Amino acid sequence: MKTILKSLFVVVGLIMVSCGGDKKVDKFGNPVSEDKTTTETAKSETSAFPLAEKGKEIFEGKGTCATCHKPDIKLVGPSIIDIAKIYKEKNANMITFLKGEGEPIVDPTQYEVMKANFALTKTFSDEELQSLEQYIYSQVK
Ligand code: HEC
Repeated sequence: MKTILKSLFVVVGLIMVSCGGDKKVDKFGNPVSEDKTTTETAKSETSAFPLAEKGKEIFEGKGTCATCHKPDIKLVGPSIIDIAKIYKEKNANMITFLKGEGEPIVDPTQYEVMKANFALTKTFSDEELQSLEQYIYSQVK
């Protein structure tokens, strides 16, 4: 009697082990990790401009660029999209411009207004200027 009970426990124990864990599997029985797939797609969407998010923060924050530049309408300054398109077309260097070492190519008649900002942009690190550039380029599809 005792041995029968004992072997019953062994069998029950084995069943529990073989069914243990409730990991998700696909129809082929392979384990599926949902988190991994979502982060990978999110990453590939932004990978062309990894600093764009930081650039947006500076653009709207301490850079105060957003007071004059809106994504798709001209305000005091040209729209972000217009700037991005013209810089892409002419393969111009926005970082040089923001350091005050370039020439205006978007709206030279209004250059004096933009020029006043160089006092601020000259204090930005190269990475901060790159972030701004990437944010601006990321606005053009
Ligand atoms: C006081 C308003 C104002 C602010 C603030 C401002 N801009 Fe401008 N920006 C302008 C005007 C006006 C122009 C058009 C003149 C020109 O093309 O240089 C311009 C032009 C530009 C251009 C095109 C330059 C070219 O080659 O013609 C870039 C790039 C630019 N701004 C980036 C920025 C960034 C980045 C910031 C924030 C750090 C910023 N601007 C803040 C008014 C402003």
